Amino acid sequence: MSPLLLALTLLSQTPAPAAHAKSPQVEAKKDKGDTPPRVLSELARQLLRPRMERHGHDMMMLVQGVLLLQRDVVAELAKNIAAEPRLTRPMVGGEDDLNAALPERFFVLQDELHSRAGTLATAVKTDSDVALAARLGEMMQTCVSCHSTFFPQTDGGMP
Ligand code: HEC
Repeated sequence: MSPLLLALTLLSQTPAPAAHAKSPQVEAKKDKGDTPPRVLSELARQLLRPRMERHGHDMMMLVQGVLLLQRDVVAELAKNIAAEPRLTRPMVGGEDDLNAALPERFFVLQDELHSRAGTLATAVKTDSDVALAARLGEMMQTCVSCHSTFFPQTDGGMP
């Protein structure tokens, strides 16, 4: 199991995705899934990949930071994610923009990640150790929402 999957498993306290890829729950979700599936263009995915590889790394460090009560680490990583430049919505008349390849839901979730990372960064100063774990969990929900929306629904896993 990759460290990222391990981290996700630790936080969510559910079996690793690979372990329940074929579970009834997943099948049910597929059945009432979006039709047509909201799949991103190959170009959009290539654009996103380096950013996502960074997110994966930052998420592991965040999990470790929260687990080991390293508030400085959590503050810095959460701030970085919150400050990350966001892909902008295509402008009217800019249908040929690269970002026009991304649907509105993508931008909504991107904004949500930004705000939840900001909340986590602030919580480092005010919240209890346990509450920080909840804030991190909320931020991770946004990661998962986006993956759940945009990963191709072939085997319920990563593209
Ligand atoms: C707004 C949508 C969105 C959000 C929010 C999002 N992701 Fe992703 N992520 C994607 C998409 C789309 C891909 C698939 C890209 C591709 O096709 O390679 C992806 C892929 C990944 C990958 C696999 C990268 C690889 O090696 O190919 C990792 C790891 C990842 N995301 C981590 C995260 C983490 C951690 C967060 C939250 C901090 C997050 N993502 C938030 C859309 C999102």
